[in-house]
Amino acid sequence: MKIVKTFLLVLIAHCTIGQINVKQEFESAAKQYEGMLAAHPDLTKFPQSTNPDGSPRDMKSDWWCSGFFGGSLWYLYEYTHDPKWKEAAERWTMAVEKEQYNTGTHDLGFMLYCPFGNGYRLTQNETYKNIMLTGAKSLATRFNPQVGLIKSWNKFQQKYDYPVIIDNMMNLEFLFWAAKTSGDKSLYNISVTHADNTLKNHFRADNSSYHVICYGPNGEVLAKKTHQGAADESAWARGQAWGLYGYTVMYRETKDPKYLAQAHKIAAFILNNPNLPADKIPYWDYSKPNEERDASAGAITASALFELAQYSTAKQKAYYIQNATKMLETLSSQAFKAQIGQNNHFILMHSTGHKPGNSEVDVPLVYADYYYLEALLRYNQLKKIKK
Ligand code: GLY
Repeated sequence: MKIVKTFLLVLIAHCTIGQINVKQEFESAAKQYEGMLAAHPDLTKFPQSTNPDGSPRDMKSDWWCSGFFGGSLWYLYEYTHDPKWKEAAERWTMAVEKEQYNTGTHDLGFMLYCPFGNGYRLTQNETYKNIMLTGAKSLATRFNPQVGLIKSWNKFQQKYDYPVIIDNMMNLEFLFWAAKTSGDKSLYNISVTHADNTLKNHFRADNSSYHVICYGPNGEVLAKKTHQGAADESAWARGQAWGLYGYTVMYRETKDPKYLAQAHKIAAFILNNPNLPADKIPYWDYSKPNEERDASAGAITASALFELAQYSTAKQKAYYIQNATKMLETLSSQAFKAQIGQNNHFILMHSTGHKPGNSEVDVPLVYADYYYLEALLRYNQLKKIKK
C-alpha cells in the first residue's frame, strides 16, 4: 500500500519508462468514480463488482473488500489534491470503522490499512490511527504461536481447522505499521514468523505457490490445496501476485535478504511464465491459457514490481520497470479500461474473483481498480524523478 518515496531516488538509471499519460488516466478514473459515488449514496453498500445480470454487486463492511473503495478515493485525492475526494474518502473510510473489532477474519489488512492507512498517511488524522491500532490487535488474535501463523479461515473443506492462504501475506504490512506506531514488538514478530512459515510451506520448487496450506495444531502441514485456483497443483494468478507483493513488503520492513530473494523468485515465475500473454496481464490461473484474464492480478503485480525494482540491481530494475509499465499500458488500453459511465463505474474490466466457484468471472473488481491507481502513482513518481 505504501507509496514508497525513497526508492525513487535510486530508480533513474537504466529505466525504460513507457508513455502512459498519468494525468489523463487519473482524469478518466476521477470521472468514473464520480459516477460511482453518485450511484452509492448508502454507506453500508460497498462497491464490489458486477452481478451476472449486469447489475452492480455491492457488499457490506464485513466483506474482505470493503476498504478498497475508500483506499482508491484516497489515491484520487493524493493525485488531484481536490478536497472533494478527501471528503468522499473520509466518508467511505469511516464506513468501515466497526471492522476494527472483527476477529472473525484475517483480512483486516485489506479492510483497514487500505482506507485508514492511506488516510492517516495523507492527513495524520489521529482517529484513523487509533482505529488501526485496535484493528491490528484484533488481527493478532488470529495468530496461534503453537502453529506459527495467522489463521485465514476458521474451517476449510469441513475438515481443516487451520487453513492459511497466500493472500494472508498482504496483512503483514498493517502489522508492521502497528508495531512501529505502538512500539508493540510482538506484532513485528508475528509478521516475521508468519512470513517464515509461509516461505517454508507455501512454495513449490518452481517458486509458484499453493493457495491454501492446512495446518495441524503444532504447525504440521496436513494438506496443500486450492480454493480459487484451477487445481491444488496449479498456480492461481492472483495468489502469485499476493506473494510477490507480500515478500517485497517483507524485505522493505525487515531488510532480511531471504525475503528479497523470494520476491525475485516469484517475479521470475510470473515474468518467465510461458502462459503469460505478451500484453502481460495473466489469465486467471497460469495453467489456463486462453481462459478469462485477471486484471486484478496484473494490477497487483505491476504495483509490486515497481517497488521491487527499488531493491534490485540496475539490470533487474530496468526489467521490472519495463514489465510493470507494460502491464499498466495494457490496463490503460481499451482492452481493459472501461468507457466512462460503463462497467458499473469501475475503472477496469476483465478480472476474475473465484472461477471454480463460478463467482465474479470476467467482471470488474474493486481491488483491481485500487492496485491500478496505486501502480499509476508509483509509475508517476518514477517519471517525475526521470525528468
Ligand atoms: N483474498 C481473496 C482473493 O484474492 O480473492
